[in-house]
Amino acid sequence: MEYAEIRSLLGKMPKAELGFFPTPFYRLDRLSKELGVQLYIKRDDFTGMSLFGGNKIRKLQYLIGDALSQGCEYVFTFGATQSNHAMQTVTACRRCGLKPVLYLVAIVEPDEEDIRANLLLDKILGAEVHIVDIQPGESKAEAEERSIRMGREHMARLEAEGHKCYEVPIGGASPVGSVGFIEGFTELMEQAEQMFGKEPDYLFHATGSGGTMAGLLAGRALKGAKVPVISINVSLKDDGYPKRCAALANESLKVLGVEPMVEQERDVRTDLNYYHPGYEIPSESASKAIRLLAETEGLLVDPVYTGKAFAGMLDYIRTGKVEPGSNVVFLHTGGATALFAEKEILGKLF
Ligand SMILES: Cc1ncc(COP(=O)(O)O)c(C=O)c1O
Repeated sequence: MEYAEIRSLLGKMPKAELGFFPTPFYRLDRLSKELGVQLYIKRDDFTGMSLFGGNKIRKLQYLIGDALSQGCEYVFTFGATQSNHAMQTVTACRRCGLKPVLYLVAIVEPDEEDIRANLLLDKILGAEVHIVDIQPGESKAEAEERSIRMGREHMARLEAEGHKCYEVPIGGASPVGSVGFIEGFTELMEQAEQMFGKEPDYLFHATGSGGTMAGLLAGRALKGAKVPVISINVSLKDDGYPKRCAALANESLKVLGVEPMVEQERDVRTDLNYYHPGYEIPSESASKAIRLLAETEGLLVDPVYTGKAFAGMLDYIRTGKVEPGSNVVFLHTGGATALFAEKEILGKLF
C-alpha cells in the first residue's frame, strides 16, 4: 500500500494530538564509523508533550482519542511504580482534561521521603496514584493481575456513580494503541527513504508489552516492507509472546479495516538474550551501551529499556549478525527518566 493510502486509513481514526511529529531521524556519525555500519536513530524519545516523551505517546494519541470520542471522564492504567507508560498516560490525560488514575506495582519499593523519576512526575502532574505492594509469596505477575483487579473494581464503583471510565492496558498494548506504531513505522520509512533512498536493512527496538512491535509489524505488512524488525525483549516472556504480538498486529490492522497480514513465523523476531538479570534490574552490557552512546554521540538511553535494546543491537553488529556496511535504524523509545530513578534500577554507570 502507498504511504498516502495508509495515511488516509489512519486519518479516519479518532485521535488526540499529543506530540511533535515527525520525530527526528538522523545518522550517528561517530558510532557508524566505529561500528562499520550506517547507524541511524529515530528519536521517539522526543515525541513530547512534556520534556519526557517516549513511544507511548504515539499509542496514546489513538487511545485518548478513543476515550474522548466515548465521552470518558477518567482514564485508568497500570504498570510498575517507575512505568514510563503510566507517566506518559498522565501527561496525555492532563493535556486533554481527563482524570488519570494509576495502579502501580512496587517492583522497586519507592522511598516516600525521596520519590523519584516517573513516580515523582506522576505526583507533580496530580495523578491519583495507588501503589500495590508485592505480597509475601506473590509473584510480580500475580501482583500485576491483582492491581488490575483493584483498578477494575474502582472503575466499576465510579461507573455506578455515573462517571465514564476508560481502561488503558499495561503499556497501551491494545489494537487501538498499536495503530500509533503503524503510523510510526510509516513515518520512519518515509524518513529512511528520503535519507538513503531505500528501506533500512535492519530496525532494532526494545519490546515489553509488545504494543510497539505489533504496530511496527502491522505497518511493515501494510507497506509491504521487507526490513527485519528485531525486537529485543526487556523482560522474560513465555513462548506464547511472539504469537500474541502477531495477533495484536493483526487486530490492529483490523481496526483500520484491513485483513490480517502479519505471520508470526515469518515476521516476528524477538530476542530474549539481553534482558538479564531481569526487568528493572541493570545489566553490565546495558551500562556499557549507555556509556558508549553518551560518550560518542552525547545521546542518552536508559537502563531498563533502550540501554538493553541498544546493547543487543551492538552485539548483533559486532558479531556479524548484521553485515558490515548495513543501514541500521535504532528506534529510541524513550525512558531517560530511569536515569533519575532508584539506584537499584540505575546500576553502576561510572
Ligand atoms: C522506554 C521504553 N521503551 C520501550 C518500551 C516497550 O514498548 P512496548 O511496551 O510497546 O513493547 C517501553 C514500554 O514501557 C518503554 O517505556
